[in-house]
Amino acid sequence: MGRRYRTLRGFRDILPGETEHWQAFEQRCRELFARYGFREIRPPLVEPTELFVRSVGEQTDIVGKEMFTFGEGDESMTLRPEVTASVCRAYIEHGLDRRGAGRLWYLGPCFRRERPQKGRYRQFHQVGMEVFGEREPATDLEALALALDVVRAAGIDDARLVVNSIGDEACRPAYRARLVAFLEQVADRLGEDSRRRLHTNPLRVLDSKDEQEQALFAEAPRITDALCDACRAHHDAVRDGLARLGIPYEEDPRLVRGLDYYVRTTFEVRATRGLGAQNAVLGGGRYDGLVRALGGPDVPGLGWAAGIERLLLAGGVLDEPAAARLDVYVVTLGASPPETLALVQALRAEGLAAGWDPGGHGLGGQMKRAGRSGARFAVLLGDDERARGTSTIKDLASGEQFEGPGDPGAIAALVRSRISGEGAAT
Ligand code: HAM
Repeated sequence: MGRRYRTLRGFRDILPGETEHWQAFEQRCRELFARYGFREIRPPLVEPTELFVRSVGEQTDIVGKEMFTFGEGDESMTLRPEVTASVCRAYIEHGLDRRGAGRLWYLGPCFRRERPQKGRYRQFHQVGMEVFGEREPATDLEALALALDVVRAAGIDDARLVVNSIGDEACRPAYRARLVAFLEQVADRLGEDSRRRLHTNPLRVLDSKDEQEQALFAEAPRITDALCDACRAHHDAVRDGLARLGIPYEEDPRLVRGLDYYVRTTFEVRATRGLGAQNAVLGGGRYDGLVRALGGPDVPGLGWAAGIERLLLAGGVLDEPAAARLDVYVVTLGASPPETLALVQALRAEGLAAGWDPGGHGLGGQMKRAGRSGARFAVLLGDDERARGTSTIKDLASGEQFEGPGDPGAIAALVRSRISGEGAAT
């Protein structure tokens, strides 16, 4: 017997039953982004490796050990581990600032070679947004409101919004030096990872998942106590705005995020159910210097991305597989397959989701297939119906059977009015 292939570790099939839930969520996202005046961008899945090294940051876990990279030197390319870098690249490459396209959203796969577990995959999907050229704290607020709308669209209504400011190039270097001095004092009690990061990426040390280390950090200097006046004013305006909008949030001065491009506002949305350790369903922040660092104009930027697998898990959306859904299943007697298909096509042209049995089975076999298809109605056509120019319509849920029209347009109108009547009744 031949070898049976399976998906690679950390990769998964999204199967029928699940795809319907994805589509419904994606549709709600499209509507939400449109309401906020965002337009969709679809960058490629592969970019020059250097783009991620220079934006996400050389010292991050993502760039250091999680990228799927091919080719050497100038030819080196990487499957995108996130989308912000690609959107910035596209923004610069196509001069989107001059085209007034500063509010962009995206949805699609990302790739990180992480250790797979519940809610953590090597291919996962992000839905996210980036806004360019808006410096004011009010933009942070609007992005947070949109983030929570998207989270709610996944059926999550008890998520926690966690907010922080990590300062900018004016105040972070001094804070960083104070933090390193503190961490050096406790270095002998730090784990290997944290000791390595102490000099490469000290802010990330605070993000450690180790409880003993976390206890040590209770005494660590806090970034929010070290902000310069401009960053403090921005942060205060964001907090004040959240309060005015009635958006509940928590502050966490240790929320530093795993990507290097952030300044000032950083945030995460955490689910309270369904995910365990991987409870961050959405993360983002401001990155005012990134576009310029990538060779573009000096425009501020801000954005977030959510993991769709995590959103749907936490929202419980996937608990019930979606059923197959057809409006009608055409069952014929004494008609050749092409004749039957002609009727099926006519019903489809009228907008109905129609199925049939190309296998030429008898009445019993076709009815069995009609039942399994998930169709609402069977449309039966035999010699009698053909002679009278009618059809027989069977409600497959109730078993009720009645005479219907023979004309495809009239059949479609009847079926549609029955289905919309049910919609109105429930
Ligand atoms: P991130 O926090 O690395 O941020 O990822 C955003 C979201 O993607 C996470 O909150 C999580 O839900 C999901 N995610 C990340 N890794 C995985 C994984 N291995 N498996 C499943 N889901 C995952 C960014 O990527 C930034 N680009 C967000 C951003 C946009 N910042 C500014 N603009």
